[in-house]
Amino acid sequence: MAVRTLTEMPGPDGGRVLGNLTDFSADPLGFLTQCARQYGDAVRLSPKNVLLTSPGDAVRMLVDRGSDFVKQGPGTRRAGRRQSLPLSTMSSDGDEWKVRRGRIHGAFGRELSAAAAAAMPDQAERMLASWRPGQVRDLQQDVSVVTLRLVTRLMFGVEYSDEEIADVAGLVAPIMDLSTSPVVLPEWVPTPPKVRIRRHLKRVVRTLEQVTASPAAADPKAAPVLYALLHDTPAPGRDEIRDELATLLMAGFETTNDAVVWASILLARHPEAAERVHSEAEKALSEDAGGMALLNAMPFTDAVLRESLRLYSPVWITSRDARVDVELGDHLIPAGTTVTVSQWVNHRDPRHWREADAFLPERWLGKETSTIPRGSYFPFGLGPRTCVGAALSTVESVLLLGAIWSAHRLRLKNPDAVHPRPALALQPMNAEFVLERW
Ligand code: HEM
Repeated sequence: MAVRTLTEMPGPDGGRVLGNLTDFSADPLGFLTQCARQYGDAVRLSPKNVLLTSPGDAVRMLVDRGSDFVKQGPGTRRAGRRQSLPLSTMSSDGDEWKVRRGRIHGAFGRELSAAAAAAMPDQAERMLASWRPGQVRDLQQDVSVVTLRLVTRLMFGVEYSDEEIADVAGLVAPIMDLSTSPVVLPEWVPTPPKVRIRRHLKRVVRTLEQVTASPAAADPKAAPVLYALLHDTPAPGRDEIRDELATLLMAGFETTNDAVVWASILLARHPEAAERVHSEAEKALSEDAGGMALLNAMPFTDAVLRESLRLYSPVWITSRDARVDVELGDHLIPAGTTVTVSQWVNHRDPRHWREADAFLPERWLGKETSTIPRGSYFPFGLGPRTCVGAALSTVESVLLLGAIWSAHRLRLKNPDAVHPRPALALQPMNAEFVLERW
């Protein structure tokens, strides 16, 4: 097949830069879907931006030719500035990334997942203790308290107080707001979200400094992630440790909460699946199978999570900048181009998924998904930079869903008002739930 250059790729209005940016900002999910359906596998969004929609190209970009791309080139750095994220494993590249990833990777192994599985039932019970039928709950808020308490205990060996949890939530919310703003003002302009970010960041940093100095930090069993950072050689600087910890908190916070809330929205909309989760979880919990055995006793709840991560992947878009000219499949991507692949587009591609827009958790229980091409489903990314917290977050989400839905049936208060907001993460908006008896 002949290799296509950037100028030969089709795209909306021949790469009408400002028009496309406006269309993208108005409805990012609709715009990307429309581009994929109308223009196919490679879409020129502007002279410097390409959208790739075939699963093979997602694998080539993130895995096979991953080292020809950088996460923080000129294009993505511009976007990154809006996020005000500190430098960390998540935001570094090249040798620096290798060192940073190497430091934390080992601490996110099976032991951490097993510890999460062992600790989650008690944490969930604490949350459910005040829940009563008839109440209207902000599930996002409830879930965020449980997941933050759990991950701070597991990673740092200390459990955050309600105030400290509110600080992390208060930091993430304006970062999300800022990431949806179509207007990028210079860094020094003190917009309300930036003022809130600064205020909360100060408090989050203060807590992290206390955490780093706590006695638990010296115990690899009690605080595996913090210990791994503090005891690497050469030892990272204080600021480096603090930034890494802040990023870990934020990376796992919104994404995991969104995953649990989206799965609950789908269950509220599909009563048969909800019944099945309820009885599966009730049985598993009554049999008192602790830890990972409890997780293994909930295959349908796990399938619900996978299907929910397909339809509403918290990370909905992934971009890289070409470091050099790259031949990717039958496209020639010039150095400096920002290439985007989208979980939202690939996860719902009717060429690869049966009833692509339908919620069908059963598809994960049989052989169906074994025939789906690699690159059609990547909620946790692909290749060397896949999510370090994937296993941890899966354990948390499945067990939390099981605990919630075994105890209560959840009804959406305003089902028609629920919609996704594609910020840095795909946030469920207006998802208030009314608790009901089974
Ligand atoms: C449902 C929950 C989560 C989702 C959907 C998710 C998704 C992702 C994705 C898609 C990436 C790759 C981004 C890219 O290729 O540019 C990523 C990276 C990362 N995630 Fe997660 N994540 C989740 C939970 C967590 C948790 C719980 C943690 C840690 C506590 C975490 C820490 C990280 C880190 C440190 C990276 C950067 C890895 C690297 O660049 O080497 N994530 N995540």
